[in-house]
Amino acid sequence: MEKMTIRDVDITGKKVLVRVDFNVPMDPVTGAITDDSRIRASLPTIKYLLERNAKVILLSHLGRPKGKVVESLRLVPVARRLADILGQSVDTAPDCVGPAAEKAAAALKSGGILMLENLRFHPEEEKGDAVFAQALARLGDIYVNDAFGTSHRAHASMSGITRYLPAVAGFLLEKEINTLGGLLENPEHPFVALFGGAKVSDKVAMLKNIMSKVDGLLIGGGMAATFLKAKGYEVGTSQVEADIIDIAAGLMKAAEKSGSRFLLPVDVMVANKIDSSAVGRVVSIDAIPSDKMIVDIGTLTIDLFIRELEKSRTVFWNGPMGVEEIPQFAEGTHALAKLLPHLQAKTIVGGGSTAEVITKLGLADKITFVSTGGGASLEFLGGKALPGVVALRDKI
Ligand code: 3PG
Repeated sequence: MEKMTIRDVDITGKKVLVRVDFNVPMDPVTGAITDDSRIRASLPTIKYLLERNAKVILLSHLGRPKGKVVESLRLVPVARRLADILGQSVDTAPDCVGPAAEKAAAALKSGGILMLENLRFHPEEEKGDAVFAQALARLGDIYVNDAFGTSHRAHASMSGITRYLPAVAGFLLEKEINTLGGLLENPEHPFVALFGGAKVSDKVAMLKNIMSKVDGLLIGGGMAATFLKAKGYEVGTSQVEADIIDIAAGLMKAAEKSGSRFLLPVDVMVANKIDSSAVGRVVSIDAIPSDKMIVDIGTLTIDLFIRELEKSRTVFWNGPMGVEEIPQFAEGTHALAKLLPHLQAKTIVGGGSTAEVITKLGLADKITFVSTGGGASLEFLGGKALPGVVALRDKI
């Protein structure tokens, strides 16, 4: 990475503002954290700072409260989970700026941690407001971006704040950029990318950018319907992005031109509706009933994709193969997820729902790298510069 990191600055005894992405999934009923991977992913940075007697002040958002205080999106449970993992108390403050935050920051001892309240309770955060960014900056001496998952947002705590403090990268950000950047720059071949999830439109830029670097592209999930439609298949009641059909056809042509294999499902599981009571049935792609929708890849497709993945030396996966939340539609996703640790390949998984599946199945430590970024990893692999990264100091 071309940016300075916490290794390049003297942080001993300093007040270090660390922007983390602790936007963790929570159970909507109990409010319990259902996956704490994002908290654990920033531990190397936090521990490094604590070992050097820094005063660590954590900044994060949680959910999308739209500039208002939302009780269920307070960061106290997240601070508690961090304290449990670290075995050290974590102070909290009822706000992220203003007198309460300033008092808490001033009271912090060397080697102590303070977690400020949800940045997005203030509308100024998402607007990238300069006065708000300055108010945050006043709380520390140095700024560290360890929030790869939010680095595609030009928010006050991501890029605005870097105008007022020396700004460097944390270890998680560095690892994400080096690992995902390595996919674009020097992947070991054969390089196979596996894409699923609902929408093609979210992934067009990434598909275009990655096309010339991969040897194979495997497409499953809801997005397969748009590609199948572009090839002239009837896809029943599956959601098709009508405005993307031509683009999908263009992507398949471009793949052919660049010599990469572009594989769509040869069979799919279909059902009447997306519901836990629905029953699925596997059909060939030329026999999708007009009153049914695609909910998973079929058994022949699972085998086909497994054979492709087994030949690879590098795999990147983003997006489930079906409606993974419903057990009877999860087979495609789970079969491929469980294959990853057995491949003789570097296996990299994009964040968001794919990362959650990997963690749920207990596979996270058997995979080369699980990104903490959902949208951020898509944008980065789509070749876009991430504002939160661009704003950091360049290595001299
Ligand atoms: C994410 O979960 O992808 C990040 O935390 C960014 O969240 P956002 O999409 O609400 O900006």
